[in-house]
Amino acid sequence: MGKKQANMKSCLQPMPKVLVSCRGTDGKNNALAVAYCCNCSFDPPMVMVGIVPSRYSYKLVKETGCFVVNLVSKQQKEMFEYLGSHSGKDEDKFSKLNLRVEEGVKVNAPLLSDCPVNIECRVVDSIVTGSHEMFVGKVEFVHADEKLLNDKGEIDFSKIEFL
Ligand SMILES: Cc1cc2nc3c(=O)[nH]c(=O)nc-3n(C[C@H](O)[C@H](O)[C@H](O)COP(=O)(O)O)c2cc1C
Repeated sequence: MGKKQANMKSCLQPMPKVLVSCRGTDGKNNALAVAYCCNCSFDPPMVMVGIVPSRYSYKLVKETGCFVVNLVSKQQKEMFEYLGSHSGKDEDKFSKLNLRVEEGVKVNAPLLSDCPVNIECRVVDSIVTGSHEMFVGKVEFVHADEKLLNDKGEIDFSKIEFL
């Protein structure tokens, strides 16, 4: 069997799925499911997340210029699905799900306590690529469950059961 032209949309399998949490200038917390997420600089450490302008979270990230990338394991499946299918425009998703949160150490955004890794980011640039705006976030602080860290403080990703 030979090759055939494939659909060009989403031709790379997006990995990993994350939850991006953020906060508005009014103090309201929100989060959404994001598949468009990747490393984009090793030194300094930077990651990029793609958010569609119609999302409620888009407005919050634009307002405060920061966000938190929360890695999601199988245990957070229900939370991931809810946050990825309901909008902060219609309800306070954090109260509805009774989410456990902690304050960012460096940025004004909430961390999702139940997620194994939380990456605090400050927006340093953004590119409108088409349907998504890609926000380049400088990594300001990384929180990880103690059991995931080796003696150099590196995260052992093989210990996370990703969704
Ligand atoms: C698996 C999955 C991946 C998603 N990836 C993205 C994404 O990369 N960017 C985006 O803007 N929305 C993405 N979404 C959709 C948002 O998470 C969804 O529209 C959410 O309800 C928006 O919430 P908000 O309006 O409170 O910000 C994804 C949803 C799912 C279920």
